[in-house]
Amino acid sequence: MTEVNILAISGSLRTGSTNTALLRAAQKHAPSGVSISLYENLGAIPLYNGDLDTDSPPTAVEELRAAIAEADGLLIATPEYNYSIPGVLKNALDWASRPAQSSALLHKHVAILGAAPGNFGTVRAQLALRQVFLWTQSKVVVRPEVLVFNCAQRFDEADNLTDETTIELMREQLTVLRDQILGSVSSPHTSHSG
Ligand SMILES: Cc1cc2nc3c(=O)[nH]c(=O)nc-3n(C[C@H](O)[C@H](O)[C@H](O)COP(=O)(O)O)c2cc1C
Repeated sequence: MTEVNILAISGSLRTGSTNTALLRAAQKHAPSGVSISLYENLGAIPLYNGDLDTDSPPTAVEELRAAIAEADGLLIATPEYNYSIPGVLKNALDWASRPAQSSALLHKHVAILGAAPGNFGTVRAQLALRQVFLWTQSKVVVRPEVLVFNCAQRFDEADNLTDETTIELMREQLTVLRDQILGSVSSPHTSHSG
């Protein structure tokens, strides 16, 4: 099977982040034909400043844009901060979204998930993130939604995801992402399974 390369981005900078742990679990449990690499430089992205957004942007920005451009798709795990996405994640996406007509996010396939200790599992943050990807014309996986609520109960003490339901749902989402990517690169007359 053709392998699709997915860049996974966590919206949390915390060492003990549940959302980053979720992405590590996605790497471990990825379905066949999906290879996931973790983007680990979010903290180095400067605050967006149009004056710096020139033909020679800051190195961390250049690297982020290149990593997104080279990936077949993105997997973004977002925490929920005040009913929205964390500023660090929005800031990185703002950089990645420029220039608008040829950005690395344009038509990029994206799957979204998120973990929170409460009962709502980042649903509001995920809706806010979907809205960002409307402007960038990215192709977000619609379903399944992966809302990891009460997340503390789903990981062991070493931050390994142990909850089988979450693992299965995540695998299902990655399968849809993979098929969406492969579907879009094959001829319009070829079926996904062909
Ligand atoms: C500034 C801030 C705002 C938060 N707002 C929300 C919120 O609106 N909804 C929610 O469910 N949790 C909220 N939380 C709690 C986060 O869901 C929790 O800290 C989560 O573990 C962060 O993800 P991480 O473990 O990947 O860092 C907030 C946390 C912070 C630091």
